[in-house]
Amino acid sequence: MQIQKQAFTLIFSCLFSMLLITTSNSIAKSGCPTKCGNVTIPYPFGIGLDGECSLSPTYNIYCNTSLVPHKPFLLRTTTDHLEITHISNTGIMRIRNNISTRCYQDGEVVESMSRGIAAINLFNLPLVISDTKNIFTAVGCDEMAIIADANGHASGCIATCASIEDAVEYNSTCSGIGCCQTATIPKGATIIATNIGTVFNHVNVSEFNPCGAAFLAERDKFVFNAADLSEDHTMFMESVMENVPVVLDWFVGVNETCQQGRQASSESGYICLGNTSCVDFVAGSTTGYRCSCNPGYQGNPYLSPGCTDIDECASERNPCSHSCTNVVGSYRCSCPKGHHGDGLKNGTRCSSNRSQDVMRISLGISIGFLLLSVLVSWVYFITRKRKLMRLREKFFEKNGGILLTQELPSNAGTMESSKIFTTNELKVATNNYNENRILGKGGYGTVYKGVLKDGREVAIKKSKVVDQTQVEQFINEVVILTQINHRNVVKLLGCCLETEVPLLVYEFISNGTLFDHIHKYKGTTSWLTWENCIKLAAEAANALSYLHSAASIPIIHRDVTTLVQGTLGYLDPEYFQTSQLTEKSDVYSFGVLLAELLTREKPLSLERDLEERNLATYFLLAEKEDRLMEIIDPQLVREASKDHLVMLAKLVKKCLNIHGEHRPTMKEVAIELDALMKQTRHPWINKNKNYEETTNLMGQHQLYPIHPIPSYGHNTSADNMVLSGRQYSMERSLISEMNHPR
Ligand SMILES: *[C@@H]1O[C@H](CO)[C@@H](O)[C@H](O)[C@H]1NC(C)=O
Ligand SMILES: *[C@@H]1O[C@H](CO)[C@@H](O)[C@H](O)[C@H]1NC(C)=O
Ligand SMILES: *[C@@H]1O[C@H](CO)[C@@H](O)[C@H](O)[C@H]1NC(C)=O
Ligand SMILES: *[C@@H]1O[C@H](CO)[C@@H](O)[C@H](O)[C@H]1NC(C)=O
Ligand SMILES: *[C@@H]1O[C@H](CO)[C@@H](O)[C@H](O)[C@H]1NC(C)=O
Ligand SMILES: *[C@@H]1O[C@H](CO)[C@@H](O)[C@H](O)[C@H]1NC(C)=O
Ligand SMILES: *[C@@H]1O[C@H](CO)[C@@H](O)[C@H](O)[C@H]1NC(C)=O
Ligand SMILES: *[C@@H]1O[C@H](CO)[C@@H](O)[C@H](O)[C@H]1NC(C)=O
Repeated sequence: MQIQKQAFTLIFSCLFSMLLITTSNSIAKSGCPTKCGNVTIPYPFGIGLDGECSLSPTYNIYCNTSLVPHKPFLLRTTTDHLEITHISNTGIMRIRNNISTRCYQDGEVVESMSRGIAAINLFNLPLVISDTKNIFTAVGCDEMAIIADANGHASGCIATCASIEDAVEYNSTCSGIGCCQTATIPKGATIIATNIGTVFNHVNVSEFNPCGAAFLAERDKFVFNAADLSEDHTMFMESVMENVPVVLDWFVGVNETCQQGRQASSESGYICLGNTSCVDFVAGSTTGYRCSCNPGYQGNPYLSPGCTDIDECASERNPCSHSCTNVVGSYRCSCPKGHHGDGLKNGTRCSSNRSQDVMRISLGISIGFLLLSVLVSWVYFITRKRKLMRLREKFFEKNGGILLTQELPSNAGTMESSKIFTTNELKVATNNYNENRILGKGGYGTVYKGVLKDGREVAIKKSKVVDQTQVEQFINEVVILTQINHRNVVKLLGCCLETEVPLLVYEFISNGTLFDHIHKYKGTTSWLTWENCIKLAAEAANALSYLHSAASIPIIHRDVTTLVQGTLGYLDPEYFQTSQLTEKSDVYSFGVLLAELLTREKPLSLERDLEERNLATYFLLAEKEDRLMEIIDPQLVREASKDHLVMLAKLVKKCLNIHGEHRPTMKEVAIELDALMKQTRHPWINKNKNYEETTNLMGQHQLYPIHPIPSYGHNTSADNMVLSGRQYSMERSLISEMNHPR
């Protein structure tokens, strides 16, 4: 490890010295020394008085090898030597300073150097005293210092102080107290003289400040210290001369500008060589120019072959962070494959594309996903909508919509408001089939209360799955019901066929249900008198009879799909064998209703024995066992004659016949009930001449003795809500109960 390190150091030193040698070749002419002592002498200057190494004799440098270390001088005359401390290749030369000084005692000058005058003479040299890089300084407590050039341009400053303490405050500044300065230097001066004078010959300051000094020097190199006033003056002067140089500007093409130099007539010839640029040098009356390497080139612009390309990549200052390619006058940094950046150590360097790629890819993917999901959901919704539409169309077709639309328009004139509703209309009307809109549920399905756009209240009957074979019959029913304008038949406003199961829209009348009343008043005395009962029965029978006869196509009013307890009690037992509902099925159901009116018992009751659970069986059994009076409601037993009760019971028995063909027709039932009603009414006929009037009165005062209570959610017969009427409410309820298909 140690050996390796040493070897490395050795190799490095060798390389470094080689580098120095190569660069030194571009400093001085080949074969000429580049240095005198510690000072490098670049061409156009050259060491030697024969001019071999310099551009011209005025650039000769005398290197006094008697001195240690060797020192370079500008030899003006045999006595006037200027010691050079530094020559830069950019046009600057620094020379050792000369100082003006005088010392006083008792108001007399006791010691001075050349009468206090110091001079710099650059006459006939390609040098001027820099007026920008130097400043004139005087140090002392009673000084008046002057600087002047050969043309009489002068400048100066005055420095005073009353004590050392006075000056201490102004340490390190030349403000006039103990030290003064002026930056006004004659421009382009080749000969300059400085003089240190006095105002009062130090009469009152010589005790602490016997000597004054003045000098021209490079700016910012001299820093005043109050100690300078009192300390050993010789030491002070030596220190200044040693450490604070005077700056000179050197140039080529004396008395010529760049342009003049380039001309063929030029005396000295154009000095700037290849890959360089020329800059005019003008200072006062002095004219010349300087050469400099173009950017990206290095070398001595005055020395053949001029400036050469810098191989930026070769040096340890290689500006590139990765690969570097040198080109003439410049360089190129590049990044490895898969990386990006300017490749500069100084700049963005090179960074992997991966992170960027990952970002781009992930961005792309997310955008892709977004678009895809938008597309997919769009397609999904479109297809769903289409499917839904197709489904609606299918249902519409399946539910006989085409048939219905064919049937309906021909009758459109007579039906003011019957129509085919859309699913959306009904969905809005029922608040999306909201639970709290349910009026009732049964074996047939569910009835909702709805409000149409025009504000009409409707009952919407949502049946359970419909039998395909019944579609035609259903359509007939719809057509007929919408045509019928019978007082006992509830108004069917229309239907919706776009759902799997058609929805029926009825007029909505929110009155209490008949069967609430029938069962509620069991065993009590109520408005449900014998007369009212028989009237209700007659009206209902007439309505059904009308329905059966009014249409050429028979109407079947039964829920045929689902059998549940609620409707089972009314169902024609034949249906269980034939699965066919006929007009006589309606007669059976009507018989059950009559039995219900008479007994005020429910069509199916768990409270009765198993064999009597069905009201029809219960009634027939009682009739057979001749104990009808036991099961008929006591109010009716009281009010009606036994003959009438027996007559009605006989009618019920006929209606409830197991075999449909033995049952009377609805027409026959209606006739019998009408006759019974007339007999019943007969005793009071004088009192109520107008039947309609009576009905009205009953409707107003007896059918709704208290406030009508909407029976939302009623379990047995939602249709009672659907099929009702202002004055024929009970009758309509009866019919609806008969009428509760779909
Ligand atoms: C000049 O160089 C010598 C050795 O070469 C060194 O000792 C000396 O300090 C240098 N002088 C200056 C003023 O740099
Ligand atoms: C060179 O330096 C020596 C020693 O100081 C001196 O004697 C001699 O005169 C100098 N040469 C010139 C040419 O000034
Ligand atoms: C300083 O200036 C004086 C007066 O011109 C001159 O005689 C003397 O040689 C100069 N000293 C140096 C070191 O230049
Ligand atoms: C020097 O001091 C004396 C006595 O204090 C005073 O009279 C004189 O004016 C002072 N001279 C100057 C030049 O300040
Ligand atoms: C200021 O002057 C005093 C007294 O001569 C000296 O001790 C001190 O170092 C000087 N301060 C600076 C900053 O030069
Ligand atoms: C430069 O011009 C001045 C005045 O024009 C002249 O006196 C001097 O000799 C010229 N110098 C050179 C080196 O031609
Ligand atoms: C400029 O420099 C290049 C590269 O160093 C060199 O090939 C070319 O000759 C130079 N041009 C001139 C005019 O010297
Ligand atoms: C680095 O950047 C600075 C400022 O942009 C510039 O001045 C300098 O030359 C650059 N250095 C390199 C080696 O490119």
